[in-house]
Amino acid sequence: MTSFSVGLLGHGTVGGAFHELLDARAGAIESTTGIRPEISGVLTRSRGDFDDILERSDLVCELIGGIEPARTYILRALTAGKHVVTANKQVLSQHGEEIYEAARAGGAQLRFEAAVGGVVPVIRVIHETLAAAHIDRVHGIVNGTTNFILSQMTATGESYAEALAEAQRLGYAEADPSDDVNGKDAAAKMAILARLAFNARVGLDDVQYEGIEAITVDDIDYAKELGLSLKLVGTAERRGGGLSVRVHPAFLYGSHPLAAVNGSFNGVTFESPAITEITLSGPGAGGSQTASAVLGDVISSMIPPPTLPAPPQDVPVVTDVESGFYLHLQVADRPGVLAQIAEILGMQGCSVKSVVQKGLGDDARLEMVVHPVLESKFLGAVEMIAGLDFVRERPRVIRVIDEAFEAPAATG
Ligand SMILES: NC(=O)c1ccc[n+]([C@@H]2O[C@H](COP(=O)([O-])OP(=O)(O)OC[C@H]3O[C@@H](n4cnc5c(N)ncnc54)[C@H](OP(=O)(O)O)[C@@H]3O)[C@@H](O)[C@H]2O)c1
Repeated sequence: MTSFSVGLLGHGTVGGAFHELLDARAGAIESTTGIRPEISGVLTRSRGDFDDILERSDLVCELIGGIEPARTYILRALTAGKHVVTANKQVLSQHGEEIYEAARAGGAQLRFEAAVGGVVPVIRVIHETLAAAHIDRVHGIVNGTTNFILSQMTATGESYAEALAEAQRLGYAEADPSDDVNGKDAAAKMAILARLAFNARVGLDDVQYEGIEAITVDDIDYAKELGLSLKLVGTAERRGGGLSVRVHPAFLYGSHPLAAVNGSFNGVTFESPAITEITLSGPGAGGSQTASAVLGDVISSMIPPPTLPAPPQDVPVVTDVESGFYLHLQVADRPGVLAQIAEILGMQGCSVKSVVQKGLGDDARLEMVVHPVLESKFLGAVEMIAGLDFVRERPRVIRVIDEAFEAPAATG
């Protein structure tokens, strides 16, 4: 019997589930590959010794999370020529180049399917299936906590605070959900996807992000009237010779493939001229689901060849990009108001796609969607509108992703 030794760093939600799954599946894996994976040692805060585990392992699974000591353990394993599988988006989005370089230098495989999208196989698809495609854009719902909260607010009319409490009760949100709800977790995942999709040096610092804390049920209700649904969307795309990578709440038209990704699920859409569009979706987190993706990486590592990220190209990061926008205004209900707002938008080059107006006694609510326009132009218009004497409260702005895909006609 050929065996393959797996050193397990971390034995929490994912590490514990991975250990159980590997023990349960080892026989089946052996019968299909001829190689039996076995745990060579476990490291937690209270047990195990890293040097000893490294010495006895063909591959190290890093399931500790965070930056240190995960970074040091990963680098030491790769430098020693041991394969590494990790689910750690933090360390890859902040120290990815150093880690990819150590893998290349050590001739070891580095796999990290579970770092983005949980069990949804996005990394494998970029590396292998789409290796020949020129990817123009990736849209992702890559944080299950925020997708659950927004889906819950949409379905029940609950406030953000109520939906967050429900997510915590059901185990979809941590006791401290800050990095989920402020967009940082999704930003780290989009940095990893952008690095791979565009083969460019993109890290967490290059990603602009906004969270969902300020979203109100009103925003969602008005959006429904306009046929839109609200998601926390990550976008990585080529823009004018550079790249833009960002995460923010955005409205999607019902025909967008990600509009149907609800609850704690994740979804990622790849766009490329060669393939039109591919969408993958499924559970984005959870111990057993993530463990399944980690074990898939372990099996792939037992069987060469490796798929390492190539050395990156230097491509500028663009920050001011075009987008459609939704604008919510509360204004005094008097003649000329709409004309004045339209004039300011027009001056800034913003063209209005739809308007809904509702009377509220002496006031009126205006919900508008504008066609794609440079963000700086639109936000400039919003600042001017905010200063008008008939505007009752701070205007609210949410981006609108204004693309639908037409499936090409069948050719037989
Ligand atoms: N949970 C999910 O659904 C999910 C989904 C996708 C990706 N991930 C990623 O998977 C990784 C693990 O997440 P998790 O949820 O399993 O975390 P967790 O439940 O907090 O488990 C962390 C494990 O690492 C160990 N550990 C912490 N600091 C250590 C140190 N200094 N030295 C040695 N061991 C240490 C802990 O030891 P003790 O047992 O002694 O505390 C624990 O066993 C993270 O990178 C996370 O982002 C998680």
